[in-house]
Amino acid sequence: MCGIIGCAGRADETLDVLLTGLEGLEYRGYDSAGVALSNGDLSVCKREGEIERLQRAVGDASGLDGRVGIGHTRWSTHGPPSDQNAHPHTDCADEVAVVHNGIIENYADIRAELVERGHDFDSDTDSEVVPHLIEDSLAGGKSFEDAFRGAITRLEGSYALAAVSRDSEAILATRQDSPLVLGVGDEAAYLASDVPAFLDYTDRVVYLEDGEFARLESGSWTVSDSEGRLLDKSVAQVEWNAEETAKSGYDHYMLKEIHEQPRALRKCLRSRVDELTGTVDVAALADLNPSAVQFVAAGTSYHASLYGAQLLRDAGVPAQAFLSSEYATARPPVPDDALVVGVSQSGETADTLSALRTVQDSGRGIETLAMTNVVGSTAARECDRELLIRAGPEIGVAATKTFSSQVVAANLLSAAVSPQVDAREVVQALRDLSGQVQELLDSSRAEEVAEQFVDSEGYFFIGRGYHHPVALEGALKMKEITYKHAEGFPAGELKHGPLALVTAETPVFAVVTGDGEKATKTVGNVKEVEARDASVVAVTDGVSDAERYAEEVLEIPETHPRVAPVLANVQLQLVAYHVADKLGRSIDKPRNLAKSVTVE
Ligand code: F6R
Repeated sequence: MCGIIGCAGRADETLDVLLTGLEGLEYRGYDSAGVALSNGDLSVCKREGEIERLQRAVGDASGLDGRVGIGHTRWSTHGPPSDQNAHPHTDCADEVAVVHNGIIENYADIRAELVERGHDFDSDTDSEVVPHLIEDSLAGGKSFEDAFRGAITRLEGSYALAAVSRDSEAILATRQDSPLVLGVGDEAAYLASDVPAFLDYTDRVVYLEDGEFARLESGSWTVSDSEGRLLDKSVAQVEWNAEETAKSGYDHYMLKEIHEQPRALRKCLRSRVDELTGTVDVAALADLNPSAVQFVAAGTSYHASLYGAQLLRDAGVPAQAFLSSEYATARPPVPDDALVVGVSQSGETADTLSALRTVQDSGRGIETLAMTNVVGSTAARECDRELLIRAGPEIGVAATKTFSSQVVAANLLSAAVSPQVDAREVVQALRDLSGQVQELLDSSRAEEVAEQFVDSEGYFFIGRGYHHPVALEGALKMKEITYKHAEGFPAGELKHGPLALVTAETPVFAVVTGDGEKATKTVGNVKEVEARDASVVAVTDGVSDAERYAEEVLEIPETHPRVAPVLANVQLQLVAYHVADKLGRSIDKPRNLAKSVTVE
C-alpha cells in the first residue's frame, strides 16, 4: 500500500530523510515513488519502478532541496504505475504538491468541476484533485492552511494527506481512515504513514486521529482539530528501534523474522503468565466474561483467528472466526455481551477496521478488542481493549513471526475468558515453546525438502483440528512468495474434490502430531494421497506412524497439542522461504502485495 514520509528540518538533510524514509516504507509494497521539496520554489521528482530509479533521477536533478519536503511510495489504485501517476501531484501552477494514501470516492465529480473551471490534470489518479482544489482557494486569496482545510472538506473517502507549498515553510497534513504519525526530533519534525519510515531519526511519536490536522515546521509541530483549535497531544515513545527494522545480516527480512520467533514468543508471555499456578494475568483482559467471541481478520491473521476460535470453543466459549472483508456486509448476528476481536498485525487493515466499526457503530455496547502488533495503530486506538502481541516490527510482506505470536496471544485470551482444566500444562508448554522453536530453527531440514520439491507443479497442505489453520497458512505462505499454486485443506476435505488434482507432481505436506483420533484420521488421508503417487512430506512429532507413508519428514518436538501448530508452521515457513529463494523470487516484497492493506 502507499506510504507517506515528510520532513521539516534542515535544508541539507531533508532530501536524505525523504529518500531513507521511502526505503523504510518499501516493505509496504509500491510501484512508483516521488518527492517534493519547497524552498521558495517547488521541486518535484517522481519515477515509476524501484526507489533506486528515483534516487538516480534525484542525483541527476538540480535544485532539489528545501527545508520541508514530502515523499510517497504509490501502490496503484486509480491508473497504472507510471511517472505521471506517481505522487507527489501538483496543481496547474506548480504552487503546491500533495501526497495521498487511500481513496477519494467523489474524485470524479470534483475533477469534472475543476476541469470545467479550467484546471488541467496530468494523471489518472483520484489524488490529483487535492492540489487543484488548494490552488483554487489560493487564487481566491486564502492562506495555504485555509486552502488546505477547505480542500479537505470537499473529500469523501479515506485519506492520509500531506501538502507543501512554494510559498510556505510548513507541511500540512490530515487523515481520515488512513494512518499518519508524526515523529518528534530535536531539530526536525517528521511525518509518515508508518513509524519505520523515520525510526532512524527519532523514536518519539504523536499519533494523529481522524479529522485532526498537523502543521510541521523546521523542528516544531502543532496538531489542531477541524475548527483549527490547537490540541494538547501526548508524545509517545515507540519500543522499536532502528536495529530491529534492519536486516542484521540475513538475506531477507522474512528469514530474519522467522529467526526472531523465539524472542518474540518470550516477549509475548513476559509478565503475563505464572508458570506455577498456570494463571494468566493480562491487564487488558481483566474482568472479561463474554457470552461469545467473534474474531474478524484477514489473511494470516484470519488463520490465527481460526485457531483462536477453535481454542475458545474447546474451552466451552461459543466462538467463530470471520473474514473481515465479508463481515461488514454479511453482518452475522452478534450475541448480547459478546466480545469482537480484531486480529491484525498492522492494526491498519481497512477490511478489519471496517468490520470492527460495524460492531462499534451498532450502538449495542458490544465490547471490541484489538489483538495487534502495533502500539498506537488505528485498531488499537479504536477498540475498547488492546492485546499487544509484542512480536516487534515485521517488515517482510509475508507475515511470519506475528502468526506465532497471535497464536500465543489467543491462548492468553482463552485463559482469561474461561478457566482451563489443563492451565498449568498449557502455560508450561507456552513457556517451552520459544526454546523448541529455536531447536527447530537450528536443525530444520526445510531447505533440503525445498530443494527436492522446488520444481513441483503445485503444493497441497493438510491438517486437522488446530492444524487446519496451519495447512491454510502453509499454503498462503507458499503461494504468496513463490507465485506457485498452493492450497490448504482440512485433511478430511481432500477426498471431497481436491484429490482430483493430486498427482506425482504435487507434494502434499501433512501436519500430524500426537496419536489421537485426529492424527489417526490424518494418517488415513496421507495413505489416500500416497496411493495416488503423490509425495508426502510429514510435518510431525513422530508419535503417529505418518512417517511410514512419507517421502520426507520435517520433525517437530513433542509438545502440548495446542502449541504444536506453531512448531509445524515454522517448518512450513522455512520450506516456503527456501523454495522462493531457490526460484529467485522477491521474497520480502512479493509482486502485487502490500504489507498494510489500507483499502477495502
Ligand atoms: C500474509 C499476509 C497477509 C496479512 C493480511 C492481514 O502473509 O501478511 O495475508 O496477514 O493482509 O494483515 P494484518 O494482520 O496487518 O491485518
